[in-house]
Amino acid sequence: MKLAVIGSNMVDLCAYIHRMPAPGETLEVPDFTIGCGGKGANQAVAAALCGAEVTMVSKVGSDLFADNTIENFKKFGIDARYVTKASDASSGIASIFVDESGQNRILIVKGANDLLAPADIDAAAEDLKACAMIILQLEAPLATVYHSIDFGRKHGVPVLLNPAPATKALEIAKVCACDFFVPNETELAILTGLPTETMADVEAAAKSLLVRGLKNIIVTLGGRGALWMTQREKQYVAPCKVTAVDTTGAGDAFIGCFASEYAKGGDVLAAMKKASAFAALSVTRKGTQLSYPTQEELAIFLQKKAAE
Ligand code: RIB
Repeated sequence: MKLAVIGSNMVDLCAYIHRMPAPGETLEVPDFTIGCGGKGANQAVAAALCGAEVTMVSKVGSDLFADNTIENFKKFGIDARYVTKASDASSGIASIFVDESGQNRILIVKGANDLLAPADIDAAAEDLKACAMIILQLEAPLATVYHSIDFGRKHGVPVLLNPAPATKALEIAKVCACDFFVPNETELAILTGLPTETMADVEAAAKSLLVRGLKNIIVTLGGRGALWMTQREKQYVAPCKVTAVDTTGAGDAFIGCFASEYAKGGDVLAAMKKASAFAALSVTRKGTQLSYPTQEELAIFLQKKAAE
């Protein structure tokens, strides 16, 4: 089954820290990784690892990172024909700080991702029309996100929007045609202006988006699992308990795996359960894409969990 990811790629510079430096302070960090990242690229890699045929629509810069990013897509069997080079921009860069609890803080420079335009979507139109789902995030311009949702609606291709990083500039009315809206709890709080500390808070915040016209909301809650809400249904998927080393890219792992599984069978809950396990295994390892498991590794992990 074919999926398309329209969106970002980044180079992830990831430092594993004991604490953040104070202003003016220089701190030595014990460990560092560099790898391919970006929410869109991560979701594409996760979907490919879960068996989808993935087409990526994205923009790299005119620098030494560009070819490596394109080669990385190809390494995972991802169709990179619509990953184009911007002549006047750097590639996207993410500075990531992961603390000892595995939590991350991320600063991004969008670079070429900010130049991904509606015309780039139109250039891939024939391939996009053949997809079972289009996956979007917010590391590309909002105009391109809105255009992609309109494209999906016009051609009957379901759309999943991951509103990350969250921005209040996102016009909910312009994204209501998406089939799945998948924020984490932080993004949900930013987008709604509501608290998301307790499960009751999360449900109320998700409900406020349903009232505004969104159809399927899936909130990823890290160690608290995931919640799916529609006008009629509310389902909760329990977390897979693991010891987190690095949570970076776990939401992307969930989304790529969810889309791949959902496109196979149309079963939302089953797709959420597999996606939770895939994401849980990823947080036990360092890196973003580097931490994503193969299907064999996932099967062994699920067997172990079943025996616990
Ligand atoms: O969601 C994780 C991703 O966010 C990282 O790979 C980083 O590139 C940022 O885009």
